Amino acid sequence: MERTLILAKPDAVQRGLIGRLLTRFEEKGLKVVGLKFLRITPELASKHYADHAGKPFYDGLVRFMTSAPVAAFALEGIGAIAICRKLMGATFGSKAEAGTIRGDFGVSNSFNLIHGSDSPEAAEKELGLFFAPNELVEYEHSGFRWIYDPVEELGQEA
Ligand code: RTP
Ligand code: MG
Repeated sequence: MERTLILAKPDAVQRGLIGRLLTRFEEKGLKVVGLKFLRITPELASKHYADHAGKPFYDGLVRFMTSAPVAAFALEGIGAIAICRKLMGATFGSKAEAGTIRGDFGVSNSFNLIHGSDSPEAAEKELGLFFAPNELVEYEHSGFRWIYDPVEELGQEA
């Protein structure tokens, strides 16, 4: 099992899309292990987007991400990071494929609705920035019995 951090960005919150975005991940079969609603501080934004510091779009990105609240989802599943990135679509709304979140809900390149961790290392770092350890909840998801093949994918006995 893998965990990933998803953010419904300020534009998604202001447009009333939190529920619809979370639904996409739930429908796909991702397990919610943490949820939070918060206003990102400039300090948190600079840690979260440290890899982009100094790039031409960085200041605008931080301004956008701190401009209004976001919703944070911690999601779990086999291959969750890559699966969520695929559901999100390409970075720019103008280029994202129809059927993806960015492809279906927006046209902007900077107001692109959603963030998702792009690697296991990024996921670990970002989950740690947005959630305390005890805010990531361990529990059995009853749906997993039918979302995954229990023998082949969950390692349960036949
Ligand atoms: P994110 O981190 O927000 O989930 O997006 P991403 O992985 O798809 O894209 P990333 O390369 O990490 O870029 C972070 C955000 O910066 C803006 N951006 N602008 N003008 C540009 O060339 C440019 N490149 C990136 C986007 O808003 C992107 O979400
Ligand atoms: Mg990124």
